[in-house]
Amino acid sequence: MKHFLKETDFQPSELDTLFGLAREFKSNRGHHATPLAGQTWAMIFSKSSTRTRVSFEVGIHELGGNPMFLNRNDIQLGRGETIADTARVLSRFVHGLVVRTFDHAEVQQLADMGAIPVINALTDLLHPCQIFSDAFTLAERWGRGGDLVGSLRGRKIAFIGDRGCNVANSWILGANLLGMKISLAGPPGFDAAPEFDQLLVREGFSGGYEFTTDAAEAVRNADVVYTDVWVSMGKEEETAERIRVMSPFQVTPALMAAAKPDALFMHCLPAHAGQEVTQEVLDGPRSIIFDQAENRLHMQKAILATLAQQRGP
Ligand code: CP
Ligand code: NVA
Repeated sequence: MKHFLKETDFQPSELDTLFGLAREFKSNRGHHATPLAGQTWAMIFSKSSTRTRVSFEVGIHELGGNPMFLNRNDIQLGRGETIADTARVLSRFVHGLVVRTFDHAEVQQLADMGAIPVINALTDLLHPCQIFSDAFTLAERWGRGGDLVGSLRGRKIAFIGDRGCNVANSWILGANLLGMKISLAGPPGFDAAPEFDQLLVREGFSGGYEFTTDAAEAVRNADVVYTDVWVSMGKEEETAERIRVMSPFQVTPALMAAAKPDALFMHCLPAHAGQEVTQEVLDGPRSIIFDQAENRLHMQKAILATLAQQRGP
């Protein structure tokens, strides 16, 4: 059973097809095939969401399927029913799961114990749907209608701020998978969890990134400057300390000027203008944040269509 829990659940050889499918869904929106016809996909969310929830609900519908949104606290999982039993029961009813939660082990267990494909819609460890959509956003610009995935090879992304967060981790995996270079800058002490380092080693990507505490050094020769919130969901108690230590890592027009002259600015959103990035950069000519947001829909439809080819209940 193929799942999408991390970027490397797709082999490099599968990426051209996946990215091509996203381009096809984007250019033929409303007129393409409906590979989820007759299927219901449950979406179990334990955290807030705007983009991920809406793009998956719209995407499943546009592919002919029925999305079923389940807030964790509205189902028995929120009252202590086990992940294993939830996976086995839902496998009897629905054709796939889209899951947003805290502990990455939960999405792994749902995948291991169920009989249907599971898509990671964000855990504390990884956010792979975001990174594949972002990579597609870059490939659309750089591939110019030709080789999408190949256009990413050798490009450099600089991630500034909370370098231990899910989006940073996922970009490290994604950059290595896609043949991109990645340099991260952030304060010491906010490193990736040991769990992520172990994952990198298992995937053969140990040492596949540069880390510095100097933001200007990270963005040198970068094609993309990327940031994310300083206080991810679940870290709210650390807000004051995080703002204090991360404030030297704000993406400003001056920092953008230290990257390549045509460097793009990206942010997964939601943004906190005045913290990780200035309003001027968010609204500036190099910002492609809303293309990123839109492409969540098209790339996730490509992922859904790929996983839906498998046997359902
Ligand atoms: N970027 C992202 O995943 O946004 P949401 O939290 O709104 O889904
Ligand atoms: N790192 C952020 C991403 C939100 C899409 C968080 O986990 O809250």
